[in-house]
Amino acid sequence: MNILFVGDVVGSQGRDMIKEYVPKLKEKYRPQITVINGENAAGGKGITEKIYRGFLESGAQAVTLGNHTWDNKEIFEFIDRAKYLVRPANFPEGNPGKGIVYLKYNTEEVAIISLQGRTFMPVIDCPFKKADELIEEAKKRTSIIFVDFHAEATSEKQAMGWYLDGKVTAVIGTHTHVQTADNRILPGGTAFLTDVGMTGPYDGILGVEKEAVLRRFLTSLPVRFEVPKEGRKQLSAVLIDLDNQTGKARKIERILINDDHPFYS
Ligand SMILES: [Fe+2]
Repeated sequence: MNILFVGDVVGSQGRDMIKEYVPKLKEKYRPQITVINGENAAGGKGITEKIYRGFLESGAQAVTLGNHTWDNKEIFEFIDRAKYLVRPANFPEGNPGKGIVYLKYNTEEVAIISLQGRTFMPVIDCPFKKADELIEEAKKRTSIIFVDFHAEATSEKQAMGWYLDGKVTAVIGTHTHVQTADNRILPGGTAFLTDVGMTGPYDGILGVEKEAVLRRFLTSLPVRFEVPKEGRKQLSAVLIDLDNQTGKARKIERILINDDHPFYS
């Protein structure tokens, strides 16, 4: 089985890339499961129901979130009916939504888990302990477990990869918006990548208009960050090939589409 995972969609340009390229990627790689991280999809912060549904229509089976989960207030109205929306599982008790979903493909089930790091990020429950809990639950149903680890520090992401090696199919980092080149299969059979990268504006800074970010760096004054609506775009993703029986990964391939890395069908 193949799982396609598309990294952090930022604003309308990111959504355009999803509409244009997810169907093309699905035709090229024939993934049985497609997952999109959509936590920056609504103007850079959060997600709306229309965007979530649009991602499912473009061919995703699940949408993961992160630290911007609650930034677009609309989410509080629709999260309970959004069956395939996955927010970080280690948000404190009482938060709406869920951190694990099960997807079906023929006779196979695939667990999709979202976790969020704590280094240089808001203090939430321990992602490592929460991972143990959820994996124990998921293992009763399936050996195919995909983890989106939304975290800032490369060290915390690598730590999660090693911690879950042999227990899950893949640990893929999100949040930092720059694709890292360290894709590998860890010795226990877990596919790992520190960060899958971002889908959205190609000529900004992490998906934000570069002029405002530069002004912040040059003056230290408070600056309002905007997400560009026009300009060149990119898509970042990863493809994981796995053994259906054991849930272990066989191959992990990075995908980057932009003017410097054109798409070939
Ligand atoms: Fe994030």
